[in-house]
Amino acid sequence: MNWDVFLAPYSQVVEELKVKLKGMRAQFEFESRQSPIEFITGRVKPIASIEEKVKKKKITLDQIEGKIQDIAGIRVVCQFVDDIYTVVDMLRSREDLKIIEEKDYIHHKKKSGYRSFHMIIEYPVETIHGVKMVIAEIQIRTMAMNFWATNEHSLNYKYEGQIPQQIKARLQGAAEAAFKLDEEMSKIKHEVQEAQRIFHRK
Ligand code: GTP
Ligand code: MG
Repeated sequence: MNWDVFLAPYSQVVEELKVKLKGMRAQFEFESRQSPIEFITGRVKPIASIEEKVKKKKITLDQIEGKIQDIAGIRVVCQFVDDIYTVVDMLRSREDLKIIEEKDYIHHKKKSGYRSFHMIIEYPVETIHGVKMVIAEIQIRTMAMNFWATNEHSLNYKYEGQIPQQIKARLQGAAEAAFKLDEEMSKIKHEVQEAQRIFHRK
């Protein structure tokens, strides 16, 4: 397996999507509108993690392309929950990518407490051998969801996937607290907007 050759289109996708999504953010700024996107990150899955997943999923190396969908990963972080759905709608209407699957872990949170909106997409990348369709995963979440997920991810790493029950329960509680914060901030935002509308009418 020549990893450099195999991973090249994936890093191409990550770089291109980062540029394009950052471009969306800039457009909102030029039009003096609050951007639904706070920041964007992207990464290509490290080889060791790919190999680990190959073992776990019991697949062969030539099945990687189809069965591991997060080799190219993009993360869009928003301030508010409704911003997530604004980003989802914008992605749905784009003509340069094809959505293969959507997973709404906001309305259907995971047992761990994890919340985010996931999109599995197919993205055409130009290589020296012609066009190649590459699968990528876009995770869209609020800053509170991101704070929770990055910390839970570190703990999973620390405990090698076996987080003690007591800590798991506290993480579930923390996920609910993060979601309450998201809901409360949305309500406050709407009240401020309402107040501004009334103010402008006067
Ligand atoms: P994998 O979990 O990636 O093997 O595939 P899947 O088909 O189960 O996809 P799923 O949508 O469950 O998860 C995809 C990605 O979402 C993961 O690689 C993580 O980045 C993230 N994710 C899912 N569940 C959790 C969770 O409980 N905690 C954290 N921190 N991240 C999660
Ligand atoms: Mg999973």
